[in-house]
Amino acid sequence: MTTANSNLTKAKNAKNDEFYTQYHDIEKEITSYLDYDENVFRDKTILLPCDDPEWSNFTKYFAQNFERFGLKKLISTSYAHNSKQLEIGYTPSLFESNNPQFDQQKTLVKGKIFTLCKDTTQDGRVDINDLQWTYLEGDGDFRSEEVKALRDQADMIITNPPFSLFREFLNWIVAANKQFVIIGSMNAITYKEVFPLIKHNKMWLGNGFHAGNAYFATTAEKEYANGVYDSETGLVKFRNCCWFTNFEHGRRHQSLQLMTMQENLRFNKKMKGKEAYDKYDNYDAIEVSFTDAIPSDYKGVMGVPISFLDKYCPEQFEILGTSDNGLVDDFLKKTDGLAQKFVDDYYKSGGTGAYKEGNPTAGLYQNNVAKMIYKRIFIKHKDLTK
Ligand SMILES: C[S@@+](CC[C@H](N)C(=O)[O-])C[C@H]1O[C@@H](n2cnc3c(N)ncnc32)[C@H](O)[C@@H]1O
Repeated sequence: MTTANSNLTKAKNAKNDEFYTQYHDIEKEITSYLDYDENVFRDKTILLPCDDPEWSNFTKYFAQNFERFGLKKLISTSYAHNSKQLEIGYTPSLFESNNPQFDQQKTLVKGKIFTLCKDTTQDGRVDINDLQWTYLEGDGDFRSEEVKALRDQADMIITNPPFSLFREFLNWIVAANKQFVIIGSMNAITYKEVFPLIKHNKMWLGNGFHAGNAYFATTAEKEYANGVYDSETGLVKFRNCCWFTNFEHGRRHQSLQLMTMQENLRFNKKMKGKEAYDKYDNYDAIEVSFTDAIPSDYKGVMGVPISFLDKYCPEQFEILGTSDNGLVDDFLKKTDGLAQKFVDDYYKSGGTGAYKEGNPTAGLYQNNVAKMIYKRIFIKHKDLTK
């Protein structure tokens, strides 16, 4: 059965990228950047690629708030229907087909560009009614020279990019050294293109979706099982979805309130039955399976789940590496990846999967049973003296 958890992966595999972000999610996220710096968008040019104001809300949101944010220019681009390779048919919106510019051929094969920078309706304000549009020369692919040139003239890139091209999209932004806010899967955190940015505080998680669940509008109703797609609202639920950004926001600088190691072992229900924190067989670090069980007084290295990043405060912790993809310095390795004996013990005790000696996965013994520990990030406290 399809689960909400697997939807991003499914979207990636099926190249189904038609998930539209809800207005209130955009508003909530952007408000957290404005709370931190009310002038964050002043005199800036924002590019919203992979968008389409006829379907999605990013353009609507920024156009409606153009004056309040003090924007210089808003540009958004959409991707041509034929390039999307969807199985569903296409009917241009009335907005487009009623416009004198409408072109029956171009509507299928060309992307569109929408721009907003001045009061074209002469009603005394700059807003969504002043958006101007035309067809692009190409299909609106963010990788095209045409859209790259728009990227280069923008100060900021904001969108929910195609899930199937997340890595490429992030590289595309980073190559141009822009400020950005984009949506992606939490699992992307340990990708080799993504993790170094997080480790070096060049990118972090945004304010986030409510309770970690994101609901997107979609046209792909058939693909989802009960509980994932709601035909009444037209929304599909994704867990593990987050905003990746290099915009500052307040939550990122709030330290976690933590108990000491002894207090955790005595009072934290998640540590029940344990007399000590487990140590990895192949990394010089202790395993901390829950962010709220991070001991406040442990000076060494700790392995934490990727969800920790949602609570990561750079003044409190330093990120050292990840067990995934082997993106970790040698000084943390006790052995070069999983030891052969550990792998043998793991399979002897009924372990499954395809682990081999040398794999960077974190492994540990619990009651003499070898266990593989999924995707860990290695951190240590910044403020504790050695
Ligand atoms: C996840 S949807 C998000 C749409 C919109 N930004 C939003 O948040 O509501 C990603 C969009 O990117 C489009 N897309 C897919 N591949 C693309 C590409 N190579 N270049 C530009 N857009 C692309 C998809 O057709 C889809 O409409």
